[in-house]
Amino acid sequence: MRIDKFLTETGTCTRSEAGKAVRRGDVLLNGRAVRSASEQMDPETDTLVFRGEPIVYRKFTYIVLNKPEGVVSATEDGDVTVLDLLPEQLQRLSLFPCGRLDKYTVGFVLLTNNGALAHRLLSPKHHVEKCYRFAARSPLSDEGMARLEAGVDIGGYRTAPCRVEREEDGEYYRITLTEGKYHQIKRMLEAVDNKITFLERISFAGIALPPELSRGEWRYLDENEVKILEDHGKL
Ligand code: URA
Repeated sequence: MRIDKFLTETGTCTRSEAGKAVRRGDVLLNGRAVRSASEQMDPETDTLVFRGEPIVYRKFTYIVLNKPEGVVSATEDGDVTVLDLLPEQLQRLSLFPCGRLDKYTVGFVLLTNNGALAHRLLSPKHHVEKCYRFAARSPLSDEGMARLEAGVDIGGYRTAPCRVEREEDGEYYRITLTEGKYHQIKRMLEAVDNKITFLERISFAGIALPPELSRGEWRYLDENEVKILEDHGKL
């Protein structure tokens, strides 16, 4: 693979930046300065260092983003999208959000360009757990929580059994779903005569929203987290 291709595919920089970095001697292949961005390399076995940082080749990219309110989980829209929150070089990697959060919902969004894995993670038969923290207009009774857990009618569809817990402060709740119907939690609360006032996805497939990420921030998934996703995709 050409070095400039490697650098753009890993989201490290643009093609023209790659050329400039090479000319400045900022790109090392196996410890030696690269002379031309068109030089060939083997992404699996060669070590490439860009401006002092070793660049790991990833066939696919996996990113967790802490979605702020008002941003849409789409690739294109009149509004600000989750992709707009990524740096320019990552916007060229054909990433898309794996599942949608409503505009007002905040928290965990997985962005990837691994379409086959995303498809499996979203398929109801894989039972991938998504956990949300929410607040409601009126306190939920034990009976209301039990009704949500057993499944409610959200307009012609009966939701699958799920888990609902009350947090210790009594103000927030957690709900863990293995499916993802349109506006599901909003409609589930309406089915028990209540209303969502805050909704945050706090984990996806058992991967917690990283506490160091403020709203609008992102990071790559680490190797363990990618393995968790791949294992879920196999089930
Ligand atoms: N359920 C909802 O109602 N909204 C979301 O964004 C996610 C789940």
